[in-house]
Amino acid sequence: MASGTQALIPDSRVVEPGGPLRGRLCIPGDKSLSHRAVMLGALAEGTSRVRNFLSGEDCLGTIRCYSQLGVSITADDASETAWTIHGGGLHGLKEPGDVLDVGNSGTTMRLMLGVLAGGILGHACLTGDASIRRRPMLRVVDPLRAMGARIDGRQEGALAPLSIRGGSLRPLDYASPVASAQIKSALLLAGLFIDGETRVSEPARSRDHTERMLRAMGAELAVDGLSVAVRGGRSLKPFEFEVPGDISSAAFWLVAGSIVPGSEILLEGVGLNPTRTGVLDALRRMGADITEERPREALGEPVADLRVRYAELTATTIEGDEIPRLVDEIPILSLAAACATGRTLIRDAGELRVKESDRLAAIARELGKLGVVVKEHPDGLEIEGGTRWRSAEVESQDDHRMAMTLALASLQAPRPIRVGGTRSTETSYPGFWEDLARLR
Ligand code: S3P
Repeated sequence: MASGTQALIPDSRVVEPGGPLRGRLCIPGDKSLSHRAVMLGALAEGTSRVRNFLSGEDCLGTIRCYSQLGVSITADDASETAWTIHGGGLHGLKEPGDVLDVGNSGTTMRLMLGVLAGGILGHACLTGDASIRRRPMLRVVDPLRAMGARIDGRQEGALAPLSIRGGSLRPLDYASPVASAQIKSALLLAGLFIDGETRVSEPARSRDHTERMLRAMGAELAVDGLSVAVRGGRSLKPFEFEVPGDISSAAFWLVAGSIVPGSEILLEGVGLNPTRTGVLDALRRMGADITEERPREALGEPVADLRVRYAELTATTIEGDEIPRLVDEIPILSLAAACATGRTLIRDAGELRVKESDRLAAIARELGKLGVVVKEHPDGLEIEGGTRWRSAEVESQDDHRMAMTLALASLQAPRPIRVGGTRSTETSYPGFWEDLARLR
């Protein structure tokens, strides 16, 4: 977003307590799918059209970066949710004339490294905001180097800014130590440029949007248990895609509707890819009343409307293979846990320490200020339910998912709460504050 526009958006907000929350919302497009629509549309042979694109800062940043690579991407409406992408095929990308700035977006940074490694003849430099420059990059840089990519950067390529020189790559059979869709996708995207088979296996299944989209575009892709292989050098077909609503954004209302007495919310057009629905499973185990209506499909992705009604929640344990299926929803699930009866355990979630902020520390610190009893472990949290809420100033530290979690936690407090760092909601949910006002 232009800094002039950003200055108009307040960076702290006072949230009044209370409810109920009632009404219907159209959930903005999925962030992971919006990024991939641009990145894969750019590599297709021909023109793709995308609707319900997430016009948040992360995904608009991806459009800016691909425009710098010479791809013509045009907005079809003033709200920047409809776009036409003129794909130039696998060999259509140009060396960028300036540094590529990914802003706050780990997905843009890591997936682009895979594309640039095999997709440009020349050099590119990637950087981003203070958060992105702290996040670990060797998880994609090392396997890309093993494929022959030439990448350098701060601390030998561990941290951005990173510089990369594209060229010809060799196939790799890689066992990732982390269940991460960003690692898997970066390597599969690099594999598109290789005349041979690139295989990635992971310890648990992470979101499989790249695989589904590539298959719909005619790529040669095989999934075998926890491993995926792509055979490159084959041209990709363009697509028409109505991006499903982001379940990670819907999750805020699923929890708010469950914990505020008297609430009932209908969430329209939510993506229900089974690699993303851990939040539904966890909330239903806790006793949430969530129903699915009007099931449908978009480019291989399941979609439905979700209706949530207030319910009394009980504690649960969230661990193991379920973590990658709800990795971005742990902040808001922590709020559900604080309102439930009993002690909720979250384990095997060390990845949260390297997200937009150290989310385990942030949840313990900020929910703790509001009276939630939270014990922090190296890879998880213990959260006591039945919180006696108190009022305090809280701070998201510019982490969008923390800002939205703290806003909804404030509904429980005895007095209005000032939440700091609220401009960050523009990253993934422009319209969050308007949607909150709409439901009250
Ligand atoms: C994403 C993958 C996840 C997730 C992130 C988006 C993606 O990260 O946390 O918000 O679009 O591939 P990891 O793959 O690093 O777990």
